[in-house]
Amino acid sequence: MDIQAVVGRLESLAADAIILNLFETVTEPGGATGTVDKALGGAISSLIAGGDFTGQAGQVAILYPMGSIPAKRIILVGLGAQDKLTLDGVRRAAAQAILKARDLKVKHAATVLHGTGAGGLDIQEAAQAITEGSLLALYDYHGQKTAARPEALPQRLDLVIFDEHDTRVANGIQAGVAVAAGVQVARDLANLPPNVCTPAYMAKVAAELAQTVGLKIEVLEKTQMEALKMGALLGVAQGSETPPRFIILEHNAGRDDLDTVVLIGKGVTFDTGGYSLKPSENMATMKGDMSGGAAVIGALGAIAGLKIPLHVVGLVPAADNMINGRAYRPQDVLTASNGVTIEIISTDAEGRLLLADALVYASRYKPSAVVDIATLTGACVVALGEGVAAGLFATDDRLRDTLLAAADSTAEKLWPLPLFPDYEKAIESDTADVKNSGGRKGGVGSSAIFLKHFADYPAWAHVDMAGMMLTVGDSPYVPKGATGYGVRLLTDFVRRWAEKKG
Ligand code: BES
Ligand code: MN
Ligand code: ZN
Repeated sequence: MDIQAVVGRLESLAADAIILNLFETVTEPGGATGTVDKALGGAISSLIAGGDFTGQAGQVAILYPMGSIPAKRIILVGLGAQDKLTLDGVRRAAAQAILKARDLKVKHAATVLHGTGAGGLDIQEAAQAITEGSLLALYDYHGQKTAARPEALPQRLDLVIFDEHDTRVANGIQAGVAVAAGVQVARDLANLPPNVCTPAYMAKVAAELAQTVGLKIEVLEKTQMEALKMGALLGVAQGSETPPRFIILEHNAGRDDLDTVVLIGKGVTFDTGGYSLKPSENMATMKGDMSGGAAVIGALGAIAGLKIPLHVVGLVPAADNMINGRAYRPQDVLTASNGVTIEIISTDAEGRLLLADALVYASRYKPSAVVDIATLTGACVVALGEGVAAGLFATDDRLRDTLLAAADSTAEKLWPLPLFPDYEKAIESDTADVKNSGGRKGGVGSSAIFLKHFADYPAWAHVDMAGMMLTVGDSPYVPKGATGYGVRLLTDFVRRWAEKKG
């Protein structure tokens, strides 16, 4: 769908649908809704008076102006209480309206800027939220279905502005398009079957993206990983016929005048558990175990699109966790690239092994912050629930607060969890420096403490997104399947980190 800022007035626009809104408890609509209501002889006011429409968030009504204005129909969407409207409320309202437009086979829609009048939201931010909500809601994974893909509708969405010199809406749209494109990349990767989305395929998609948005890319193969002594990553990869890749994306490469942030995403393209085999129910969703890696690739795309003034590196260690005659076993000892030896307790605790070598690799950039994101532990899902929040661990308060602020404005929720040194006890090994699993109790904390052995810089954060990989229930702009969680969070985090650094 093509989105643009259009100068004009909604009541005089000839579109297949115009999208208007209403706050709760309003009896006499104002703004664009009020103007159209008057043109319609009070049709909207009587919907309200009759109790058919209350303005509750999520409510959608259709009205037919019968020629009183040029638009064919009006889609009225509820915004909820006026003093409680957030950018996420705008994202959701825009998504609900555009989904209704798609149901009605609308080709050309035009919308009011939700929340910018009485709602008091920033115009550029609202335009970005409308763009994100609309594009993300229309995301459609067609997969390997042989039937033709249905026509993508609507084709066009106009954001109506009054002043042609106002660039804020166009800027917001541009940002929203960049962010939504990043989310789309991540969702596609995580939705694809594991026989398609291999480490090499992820590298190919990353390379195409790099070409499109202007990122530097380097992809390490097995021999290069061997030269770097990435024994932890290679230990996991050796059980699969499908070779691993280590993807390195760089935004503003070579700009040594800028601070560096490194983003790392777990790229396990399928997690069988290895010899510590998963029961089939738990294995059923494990094509999504590269969602952290997908989020990093998508975020780098968005960050480049937004031209954020920071040097940002994305690292994606990608491998299958499979079983063959050469696969790693429990009781094996692996040596990571920083020399730390790891006793394997469970081959199903593979993600932290990939991350270990990537965390070590990140040191070379002398980063001001490193954030890793991974579908790491079932324990995090037990702690925080499915589709509620990802767990956040951080060694630095400013980094933690910046991530929490990004979580708040993107509604990609995070909840802080403790990095107590007490968790070290659980990963003490008799035969090596550490064990790769601390067992069931406190499993999310001991996984984070394990990672800390490889994170040798002042500011490191770890996001465990195991519970956020798949859609739970219905969110208007997160269709069924892979959520693309993390792209908006990481992008907004990097934007904030760049601002604070001046
Ligand atoms: N990929 C899984 C974690 C996971 C679980 C992701 C559910 C998404 C949904 C990870 O590799 C894993 O298997 N973790 C183990 C760790 C344990 C062996 C210490 C787990 O959580 O059971
Ligand atoms: Mn596993
Ligand atoms: Zn895994």
